[in-house]
Amino acid sequence: MGGEPCYQASTMRPGINQILRHVALDRDAVDDWSEYPFCIPAVRHLERLDLDPKVTILVGENGSGKSTLLEAIAILAGFNPEGGTRNFQTALRPSESPLHQHLRLARGSRREKGGFFLRAETMFNISTEAEAYEMYGWAELHAMSHGEAFLWVVMNRFRDGGLFIMDEPEAALSPQRQLALLGRMHALAEKGSQFVVSTHSPILMGYPRAKIYQLGEDAIAPVRFEQTEHYAVTKAFLQDPERMLARILGRG
Ligand SMILES: Nc1ncnc2c1ncn2[C@@H]1O[C@H](COP(=O)(O)OP(=O)(O)O)[C@@H](O)[C@H]1O
Ligand SMILES: [Mg+2]
Repeated sequence: MGGEPCYQASTMRPGINQILRHVALDRDAVDDWSEYPFCIPAVRHLERLDLDPKVTILVGENGSGKSTLLEAIAILAGFNPEGGTRNFQTALRPSESPLHQHLRLARGSRREKGGFFLRAETMFNISTEAEAYEMYGWAELHAMSHGEAFLWVVMNRFRDGGLFIMDEPEAALSPQRQLALLGRMHALAEKGSQFVVSTHSPILMGYPRAKIYQLGEDAIAPVRFEQTEHYAVTKAFLQDPERMLARILGRG
C-alpha cells in the first residue's frame, strides 16, 4: 500500500522529534475534585493526553473544558494566558484556571520557532491588537474584519516550525476561509509546526489523520472524524434538511 511512511514513523515512535509530546495530570496533587477546574468531567478523567506531532484537535460540547485545557497547555508551553505570541506580556490578564499547576508538559526534542496562542473569546482584544500593531503594522489590518485579520496573521505571520494553540479559530471564518486555514495548517505542519486546536468546525476536524479527542462526561477519548457528533449532525442535516427541520420544528 502507498501510505505515508514519515507519518507512520512518527506515530510509532511518539515524541522523538516533535515539539510537545504530552500533558499529564498530577492526580495525587489535586486537593478538591469538586472545585473548578477539577470538577469538569474531562479533567476529572484526565490522565495523560498524547499530542500529535502535527495536529491535535479537541472537540466537545460547550462547557466540556476545551478552553480550560488549551489554556493550561498554552501557559505550560510559555504563552501568556491572555493569548498572542510569547513576547507579549501584559497586566491585563483574565484569571487563568489553576489547571496548569497540576499538569506536567512533556516536550520532545525539537524546540518551536515562535508560535501563537489564539483564545476564542479574546481573538483580537486590545492587547493583541496593540501587539499586532507593534509587530505587524496595523495599517493593513485596520480595515479588516476579525475573520480577515485573523486569516491575514495566519497566512503572513505564522512560521514554519512554530507552535500554534488555537481555541475555536473558526469562529469568525466563512467555510471557504476555514478551508484556507486548513490548507495553511497543513503547509505549516509539513514544515515542522505543531497545532493544538479546539473546534466545532467539521471542516477543521477533517484535517487528515489529526489526533482528535472528544471531551465527554466519562472520559477524554480519541475519536475518528466520522465518529464525531459534528460530522454526523452536519452530514445528516445537509443530506436531508427537510427531515431534520421537521423533527426540530416539531412537524415530523
Ligand atoms: N473561571 C471559572 N470558574 C468557574 N468555572 C468556570 C470558569 N471558567 C469556566 N468554568 C466552567 O468550566 C466548564 C468548562 O469551561 P470551558 O473550558 O470554557 O469549556 P469549553 O471551552 O469546552 O466550552 C464550564 O462549565 C464553565 O462554566
Ligand atoms: Mg471554549
